[in-house]
Amino acid sequence: MNLQVNFCGIDMKNPLTTASGTFNPEAHAAFYDLSVLGAATVKGIADVAWEGNPTPRIAETYGGMLNSVGLQNPGVDAWLEKDLPFLKQYDTRIIVNVAGHTIEEYTAVVEKLQDAPIDLLELNISCPNVSAGGVTFGTDPDMVRKVVSAVKDKARQPLIVKLTPNVTDIVEIARAARDGGADALSLINTLLGMKIDVYRRRPVLARKVGGFSGPAIKPVAVRMVYQVAKAVDLPIIGMGGVMTGEDVAEFIMAGASMVAVGTAALSDPMAPVRILNELKEFMEKTGVKDINEIRGIID
Ligand code: FUM
Repeated sequence: MNLQVNFCGIDMKNPLTTASGTFNPEAHAAFYDLSVLGAATVKGIADVAWEGNPTPRIAETYGGMLNSVGLQNPGVDAWLEKDLPFLKQYDTRIIVNVAGHTIEEYTAVVEKLQDAPIDLLELNISCPNVSAGGVTFGTDPDMVRKVVSAVKDKARQPLIVKLTPNVTDIVEIARAARDGGADALSLINTLLGMKIDVYRRRPVLARKVGGFSGPAIKPVAVRMVYQVAKAVDLPIIGMGGVMTGEDVAEFIMAGASMVAVGTAALSDPMAPVRILNELKEFMEKTGVKDINEIRGIID
């Protein structure tokens, strides 16, 4: 059976990757060999260290969770020095999620990554937990074109643009990213949500609102991947509530080339390994010899 996929001209041993922000290489490597992943997508990295938002910044919900982490990260220099060498021990492709508050901050990160031994960049214009950059860029088609084009100009690796679902027309935003020069798209980031503690009469999250993820959002994610795959001729990493191997097959049938596991790996660090095995079982059971056979088969 063949699980290998080609994404932006790069061979991946299988279509599985991690969703940025839910993957901690050192912590997860204590549970499984990261070489099983087709690609490892790392947490958003900015030009300097970011502390993130005040706590509480995580809350459980029915069928998922809310987070308002705020892209806490060590900054690109520290990441290159400490985290990248750790990840390079493993036989997996590396995708770096790039964060910024301004176009200049995004391009500063990408310039520092120009000669780094990484495979792809993922531009994060969809984080709902920052007051500048992130989703504030990703909901405006003109801004999307502008930031993607500025980053593409400096990028030496293929550029994936990560889209927010917090828009009326995801296809319009996907087209803007393509027009700006995106090589690929990833979707969806989290949905903006809120939880109130009715006994304390206040929001559970310190920042009041946060990003909703987990199995409850999967139908929204599958619908958006399907719509974008039909309208825009760019490869897609699908994500949003992936819990099983069948979920991976669902995203691929909707049109994704690769699929990211996110929230599932926070409660079960071994989730990517289990999900990959389940995908193989699904293929065996249903007679799929090559994972590429089922990509985009839904009319
Ligand atoms: O708050 C966060 O760190 C989330 C980032 C994202 O959704 O991209």
